[in-house]
Amino acid sequence: MKINMKINGVNKSFEVSPDEYLVDTLRKNGYLGVKRGCDTGVCGVCTIHMNGKAILSCVTLAARADGQEITTIEGAGKEAERIGEYLVSEGVEQCGYCSSGLIMNILYLEKCVEDPTDEEILHYLSGNL
Ligand code: FES
Repeated sequence: MKINMKINGVNKSFEVSPDEYLVDTLRKNGYLGVKRGCDTGVCGVCTIHMNGKAILSCVTLAARADGQEITTIEGAGKEAERIGEYLVSEGVEQCGYCSSGLIMNILYLEKCVEDPTDEEILHYLSGNL
């Protein structure tokens, strides 16, 4: 089946199978900043934005993205860089594999809550190991 999405501001069309997950569609089309981890919706490394909302691409069928607006870490630009630099300055980047998913969730938190409490931060970021 053919699906159409706007990814990082660019209209794209892909041929996908009905049981294909969005993480696979994105990665095989060059969006390698989208990482694969647990594949079960637990670790958060596959986090992207769909229509501005953080979602887990490993448990989202590609077909559900038809007609939607997708943002990956590649499209998050200076905002992602700002968060990435902060993570490095605090020494929490570790190997960096999970950073893109964490950054996408932090950007979503910033969008949703202007001055988050510790509890709100924990709530928004608890999906990232
Ligand atoms: Fe998607 Fe772990 S790979 S939550």
